[in-house]
Amino acid sequence: MMEKLIVYGSQYGTAKQYAEKCSEMTGIPAVEYRNGKGLNQYDLIIYFGGLYAGNVKGLKKTVKGLREGIKLMVVTVGLADPRSKTNAANIMKSVKKQVPERLLPNMAVFGLRGGIDYKKLSFQHRAMMAFLIAHLKKVPEEKRTEETKAMIETYHSAVNFVDFHSLDQIAKAIWAEEERK
Ligand SMILES: Cc1cc2nc3c(=O)[nH]c(=O)nc-3n(C[C@H](O)[C@H](O)[C@H](O)COP(=O)(O)O)c2cc1C
Repeated sequence: MMEKLIVYGSQYGTAKQYAEKCSEMTGIPAVEYRNGKGLNQYDLIIYFGGLYAGNVKGLKKTVKGLREGIKLMVVTVGLADPRSKTNAANIMKSVKKQVPERLLPNMAVFGLRGGIDYKKLSFQHRAMMAFLIAHLKKVPEEKRTEETKAMIETYHSAVNFVDFHSLDQIAKAIWAEEERK
């Protein structure tokens, strides 16, 4: 039996919702990253985390002590559409920066869409977004990436792109791992 664990890092709950739904679909327990203890006893860790200025919440802290050979699936949850090639490339690039070299050969990355409700943002995040949007708006329209556009379009509003069907690909990947063992 392959030992598996779902770990998540979520500020406003969208990554948590996905992690819990995935847990329900696969029967794999899900824990918040601060409660993830003894992770090296697992063969596969599926990490769900909200994207914050390219960083996956809690990921770096969670993976830094992981042994070589452990399988890692990183599932990012962000506003921008991961079906866009440039966005997917950006996600891959920033995830790789947060994961130690030794884990990269056994890592797979998936991107899911979350949501945002500006009314619920912390003071700090609100300030970060104001700063970020002001900066993004300086980029000429024709040079804006999907990510940039999504951020500008949804600024100050509430949007929710959470779609549990997008978890099917991840459940499939988990089952495929089980069969390979
Ligand atoms: C300060 C801040 C920075 C963000 N940066 C990104 C980003 O770089 N890329 C992205 O796709 N979404 C970004 N988002 C949107 C969040 O990733 C999105 O709201 C996600 O659903 C949050 O996950 P959570 O609800 O689990 O915390 C950002 C949101 C905030 C508040």
